[in-house]
Amino acid sequence: MKLFKKIKFENGERKFFILGIPIFSYKKKELSYVEKARLQGVKVGENCVFVTMPSFGTEPYFITIGDNVKISFDVTFLTHDGGIWVGNNLEKTDYSKLGEIKIGNNCFIGCRTIIMPNVTIGNNCVIGAGSIVTKNVPDGEVWAGNPAHFIKTTSEYHKQIEKINTEEKQQNMKNFVETLRGTN
Ligand SMILES: CC(C)(COP(=O)(O)OP(=O)(O)OC[C@H]1O[C@@H](n2cnc3c(N)ncnc32)[C@H](O)[C@@H]1OP(=O)(O)O)[C@@H](O)C(=O)NCCC(=O)NCCS
Repeated sequence: MKLFKKIKFENGERKFFILGIPIFSYKKKELSYVEKARLQGVKVGENCVFVTMPSFGTEPYFITIGDNVKISFDVTFLTHDGGIWVGNNLEKTDYSKLGEIKIGNNCFIGCRTIIMPNVTIGNNCVIGAGSIVTKNVPDGEVWAGNPAHFIKTTSEYHKQIEKINTEEKQQNMKNFVETLRGTN
């Protein structure tokens, strides 16, 4: 029997044994995506949700995200223009083109969105799935597409969803009552 043994379990727990007797164990704390982003240098407010780890590129410290922001999966933040590579090689220069990205409070960024350098997204905005955001988005607007453009106001979007929900709820209630009566 080995004098000292260390076992790593699938749940991340590590246990240490001396002569087969467990003497010490610990589990590494898994950081949330928000905490990981902050470690990379992204300024992230309170109560944010990242569905998966966004790609923050090479200058995460150029990115500011407000409070109550939900970022769906596979979202990319681009803070520099890599195309400068070509001109730099031709002209033997070392130019760069960088830009900050800011997202206000209470926003939703749809899946697979790309946010370009120098873009500010205001407060209470919704960005549609698969968008490429190249321009600033004013407060309270829904933008989508490539390039992203104004779709409707956030309040119009919400009212429309509210209506669908109410109609759906009424239909569900009707179906439920009919099922109880045995007519469905
Ligand atoms: C952008 C979004 C919020 C708009 O929702 P909506 O207001 O109900 O959209 P509508 O169906 O009324 O469409 C309005 C217009 O926007 C267009 N549109 C909607 N979503 C779009 C998108 N993601 N990209 C491009 N255009 C879009 C529609 O084609 C329509 O265009 P038209 O007026 O020329 O016909 C929604 O479509 C969306 O993309 N939500 C995010 C989905 C997502 O990321 N889910 C992951 C969950 S974690």
